[in-house]
Amino acid sequence: MFLWGTATAAYQIEGAATEDGRGPSVWDVFAHEPGRTRDGHTGDVACDHYHRWPEDVALMSGLGVNAYRFSIAWPRVLPLGSGEVNAKGLDFYERLVDALLERGVQPVPTLFHWDLPQALEERGGWLERDTAARFADYAAVVAGRLADRVPLWITLNEPFVHMAYGYAMGVHAPGRALLTAALPAAHHQLLGHGLAVRALRAAGAREVAITNNCTPVRPASEGEADLRAAEAYDILHNRLFNDPVLLGAYPDLSAYPPGLTCVQDGDLEVIATPIDALGVNYYNPTRIAAPAEDAGLPFADAGITGHPTTAFGWPVVPDGLRELLTGLKARYGAALPPVHITENGCSQPDVPTEHGTVEDPGRIAFLEGHIAAMRRAMAEGVDVRGYFVWSLLDNFEWAEGYHQRFGLVHVDFATQRRTPKASYRWYAEFLASCRD
Ligand code: FCB
Repeated sequence: MFLWGTATAAYQIEGAATEDGRGPSVWDVFAHEPGRTRDGHTGDVACDHYHRWPEDVALMSGLGVNAYRFSIAWPRVLPLGSGEVNAKGLDFYERLVDALLERGVQPVPTLFHWDLPQALEERGGWLERDTAARFADYAAVVAGRLADRVPLWITLNEPFVHMAYGYAMGVHAPGRALLTAALPAAHHQLLGHGLAVRALRAAGAREVAITNNCTPVRPASEGEADLRAAEAYDILHNRLFNDPVLLGAYPDLSAYPPGLTCVQDGDLEVIATPIDALGVNYYNPTRIAAPAEDAGLPFADAGITGHPTTAFGWPVVPDGLRELLTGLKARYGAALPPVHITENGCSQPDVPTEHGTVEDPGRIAFLEGHIAAMRRAMAEGVDVRGYFVWSLLDNFEWAEGYHQRFGLVHVDFATQRRTPKASYRWYAEFLASCRD
């Protein structure tokens, strides 16, 4: 059965940041620091999903999706990151999973969507090797409760973005700006992924995946310097996270001295523990040029031009999804497992009309275009098994706070009123037509 779903993440929707024993995460701390997020927004309340989840499950049911990707907040389950388990945290996810199953919606949990327990950050976060082992312990705890009911698990969400934004540039939690000294955060996340795959299987999980943010990289010109820069960017964004998982080897990191110095014997075997699916998040392609002489990095973003853009300013290039998927197939061949598009969507201004409706034709066109591109890739032989719209609800968009709306459902953050947008009705009709 092809999975048609929507996706969310814990810190972006749950709120209830201090309730029922939840510990603080790096995002709680970061968002409360002055100047870190637009207008100082935090996820303290977000969509109040922790209390309103029955309404949100009903919205999914009305949509007709057969799958829902959400994330489990590590600090709800283990408030200090390791050690004592908070039963109330697990109870919350168990209630959610059971409610989804009752409605015929397959739960697809992600174990880490960037909300590292602050206690682990204080011990070095993902720069520290021990965090990988703690992640596997946490995976075992959650699977111990839910593996009998959850068919497909996702370990990490977008380790590239977490490393790059959180540790290299400091624009996301934990707010460290280490440039290439952030690379250990890549290796330790990947090691944590491999250890978690093993822990999940030991606890009875049937299928396990990792979700990577992938972008087709286009050189700004055919000149040698631009080609070299594009290759360096492709290595950092895509291959650093796909190669070790699928091929058991890191790509050439010589453009990023000193490279990875924290890899120990046996780590790559752990990271390459076979997985059942690759989760791919796609938003847009990237165009890369050679950097200026004194730039600290071996590439420069040249910007994609000639395409419409979303409210975020991201270029809308549906065929980039086909290009990405066929490119993965070309690179990894038989080593590429079935793929799920675990996120795809766009932010739009989404202002309610005087009649209380939200008309978002741009989002409908975006989704139609990308689903068609995915189908072209499938016709070209890529084994795609699922597609998840980001997102079910407007939510806390990280450093942008509540300013970027990605939902199929509009959320009025003052009242928590949910209003399905035109795109919700479009997706519901589309899904009904798939079932016919
Ligand atoms: C992805 C994140 C997701 C959301 C979308 C817009 O990088 O995984 O949480 O913020 O971007």
